[in-house]
Order: sequence, then structure tokens, then C-alpha cells
Amino acid sequence: MTLLERTNHLVEHYDLNPVFAMRIASELSDISPEAISLLLREKPKPFVKWVGGKRQLLAQFRNIGAYPPPGFNPAKNTYFEPFVGGGAMYFDLLPLKAHINDINSELTTTYSVIRDDVERLIQELNSGEYVYDQDVFLNIRAWDTDLVTEVKRAARFIYLNRTAFNGMYRVNKSGKFNVPFGRYTNPQICDSENLRKVSEVLKGTKVSNKSYKYVLDAAKPGDFIYFDPPYYPVSKTASFTTYSNDVFLGKEQEELRDTFMELHNRGCFVMLSNSDTPFTESLFNTYRMSGITVNKVQANRAINSKASARGKIYEILVTNY
Ligand SMILES: C[S@@+](CC[C@H](N)C(=O)[O-])C[C@H]1O[C@@H](n2cnc3c(N)ncnc32)[C@H](O)[C@@H]1O
Repeated sequence: MTLLERTNHLVEHYDLNPVFAMRIASELSDISPEAISLLLREKPKPFVKWVGGKRQLLAQFRNIGAYPPPGFNPAKNTYFEPFVGGGAMYFDLLPLKAHINDINSELTTTYSVIRDDVERLIQELNSGEYVYDQDVFLNIRAWDTDLVTEVKRAARFIYLNRTAFNGMYRVNKSGKFNVPFGRYTNPQICDSENLRKVSEVLKGTKVSNKSYKYVLDAAKPGDFIYFDPPYYPVSKTASFTTYSNDVFLGKEQEELRDTFMELHNRGCFVMLSNSDTPFTESLFNTYRMSGITVNKVQANRAINSKASARGKIYEILVTNY
């Protein structure tokens, strides 16, 4: 069987997304049910919890036929995720060729260290220094990350993600992480097995720490770009998260729309998530005739801290295919 035939066989018989199926088809010569089920059990997963994580929405994206783009060829083209965060979609697709990016340098350093130096990272996390204790937490939180090695920066980042309140990432005006200690029962700080698997799949992936606009210099026709930016606030009272000191309001959302359209005109497959508001919907109004579709999907996430204000929350998913 050719690579494409093996990929199609996997998509049909195991209900896999075609991008992941192609990775398996290119890595395994044996596509027996035993080999496949072993591989599925071994699939790496996101190594951080991230606010705005898309994991629960992926099935809906697939059900409405918006994901992955039917014409995208992962053997030839690259997958870009310029606002990668925890990378739910990256880990779902596990594309052969990928470029992930985030403006958060602690996060991107962690991706790079996992890819290039996973054994030293695991050793560091298991050194006895990263224990779940409030005083230890406050001490590690206070480190000046410019003064420590990249391995320590990555270990600190993973430690804080597992022990800080709600796994949140928030910095103050001077860029210092300021989320308080979280209450957990026995949090797992080092999942060595998953980190090793993540390291393997990251080997074919470029990681960068830039503004998302870099993608305009890098993407080629046929590439697939998924934008999952900080969401436009649903209301003035909605608690929305500041990921870094960068704001992402009206002007920034319009610039992102322009980047989307430039990639569309170049012949890329483009997909963008956002909150469902009159403003975010209107952003694409004049482009609907050019093949842009605005889909609505239902998210279960609570974006309002008041239980009474939590209802069915919708998000939009814009595609150009
Ligand atoms: C909604 S989150 C992405 C969540 C991700 N899809 C997941 O599944 O975890 C948005 C991300 O965009 C990053 N970000 C904010 N402004 C950015 C910019 N101008 N360029 C690139 N990344 C940015 C934030 O650091 C954050 O990780």
C-alpha cells in the first residue's frame, strides 16, 4: 500500500484525523490492529494546562467538517500554530511538519527544552527541589529567570503550572509571575513518560517566540494555519485572562483579521477561533463573499465567575475553506 492508501485505511478504520493518520502511516510499516492500538495508547498529550485550551472543542470542529481542512496535505505542507499555548490542536494532529509559536517566552523555552534536552529536564524536575509546598512554591516563583539555565526555566515553568492556582499563567506589570499557590491533592510535577513522548514528536517541529505576524514571512500556499488568539471580551464584566502584558482588543483583532485575509489570498488554509460577539462576527462581514465562513460552536467553559451568569457559551470558528 502507498502512504496515502495506508493513511486512508487508518482514517476509515480507526476514525483518526487524517493528519495524525499520515504520521502513523509514515512511521509504521505494520498497521495491524495491535500495533495501532499500542500507538494510540502511547499518543503524547499536552504537558501544560492552559487557559483557553481547545481540547474539548476539537470533536465539534471535526463534526462540522471544519477540521482539519480537507485539502491540506501533511506530507508536503506545514501546520502553523502561532498562538500555541498548551497546543491542544497540535497534540491532536501531531503533524509531520509544524511550526509553533507563542509570545510567552517561558512557555516556548519549555517546548524547546523538552525537544532538545528532555533527559536533563526530567533529572532537574526529579532533583528534590520541586516539591509541592507553599514556601518552596514562593521561592521558585521568585526566581529571576534571566539568571538561571534554560533547563531550570523549563522545570520552573512546569512546576508552577502544576502547583499554581488553577494552573493559571499571569504576570504583573514588571513581567513577574504572580499567581498564588493552588490547593491540589498530590499534584504530579514530573510526568517523565509523557515528556519523553512529547520530546520525540517535537523533533520535527520549529518553535519560536515572536508576535504571531511572523507567520506572514513563513507560510506558503497549501500550509494550514490555526489562530487561537486571546479572545475578545464577551462583556465589560467578563473575566478574561491577561496572558502577558499584551492586550488583544479591537485594533489587534482587526490586524489579525488582515493577517488571516493575507494568508487566504496566498492560498493557505486558515482557521481562527474567537469569542462570539457582534464585534468578532462583524470583523469578517465584508469577506463572506470571498469564501470565508463563520461557524458557531458551543463551548462548555465558564467564562464568568458568577455561577448564575454561566449559560451556554458559543464561540466562533472562522475558516476560508
Ligand atoms: C487562547 S491562548 C491559546 C490556547 C491554545 N490554543 C491551547 O489549546 O492551549 C492564546 C495564546 O496566545 C499567546 N499570545 C498572546 N498575544 C500574542 C501575540 N501577539 N503573538 C503570539 N502569541 C500571543 C498567549 O501567550 C497564549 O498562550
